Amino acid sequence: MKEELKRISAEALSEIAGASSEAELEAARVKYSGKKGQLTAILRGMGALEPEARREVGELANAVRGELEAAIADKAATLKRAALEARLASEKLDVTLPGREKACGRLHPLHTVENRIREIFIGMGFTVVEGPEIESAYNNFDALNAPADHPSRDFQDTFYIDETTLLRTQTSPVQIRAMTGKTPPIRVISPGRVYRSDDVDATHSPMFHQVEGLVVDKGITMADLKGTLDLFARSLFGEETRTRFRPHNFPFTEPSAEVDVSCFVCGGKGCRLCKGEGWIEILGAGMVHPNVLASCGIDPEVYSGFAFGMGIERVAMRRYNINDMRLFFENDVRFLSQF
Ligand code: DAH
Repeated sequence: MKEELKRISAEALSEIAGASSEAELEAARVKYSGKKGQLTAILRGMGALEPEARREVGELANAVRGELEAAIADKAATLKRAALEARLASEKLDVTLPGREKACGRLHPLHTVENRIREIFIGMGFTVVEGPEIESAYNNFDALNAPADHPSRDFQDTFYIDETTLLRTQTSPVQIRAMTGKTPPIRVISPGRVYRSDDVDATHSPMFHQVEGLVVDKGITMADLKGTLDLFARSLFGEETRTRFRPHNFPFTEPSAEVDVSCFVCGGKGCRLCKGEGWIEILGAGMVHPNVLASCGIDPEVYSGFAFGMGIERVAMRRYNINDMRLFFENDVRFLSQF
């Protein structure tokens, strides 16, 4: 039995030492000191021995059991450490690496400018209204005092859908929508897309954006128009900005003016942006023509109003010193990310 114990001890120790996983180690434990294990069998069989032999075998068996338990505990600790180390190595995370930046979009410069224009007029008590891009020829031309023979109605200039429907050439037809069936006071702006049959070049595009403005009430005068646009220009281009009204002609206003702002680069001295003029044209404006008020059912003897319209591309080009309108529509992020 002593020989048997020594063999068990040697075999068990070598199996424990050779175990390469916790499962293998457990298998070895069961094989030797489990309920049906070889060492357990010997301990059970000791009852049949003479007292002298039992004491000797018992001592040895206990020593072997102690040895195996210690070896198993030792090996278990070693395997556990190895498993932890393997996990640490595989889950290694370098917290000093720079983070991965998420690309973030931004507003298109035309939207930024449009939003700014909206804000300024909302601050003056205007309401924002919208009109459709597909519009009647009546709203786009006739009701705006541009009769059938007006040159702006030419097929060369306007995209017609049929004889009476077109892609609006201006945001001015929203004036008609804002006045028809309404009772003044009216104070609205209307931003949106407009279309003209133009070839694409640095300053033309068949699609572009405008903001229309309209105020109608009793006693509205040119002074109100000048004051409003003056405040607008100072808000958009800076406090020191001055405005200049030049006589012009639009069918739907009388009198009409083109409005310039003092150049915000040189302040009026003359530079490359203003082409030496000191002034930059930004919009058209005027007092609403009595015919237009009448075509909307508003009595021109009682009410008067002013209107204005500006191109958003043009304002944005001046504002950011952009020299080619095509850049707005090419969607090149190298351009767009500059704003
Ligand atoms: N609709 C004109 C254009 O597209 C701009 C304009 C001029 C609008 C004078 C107005 C205005 O309301 O009073 O060129």
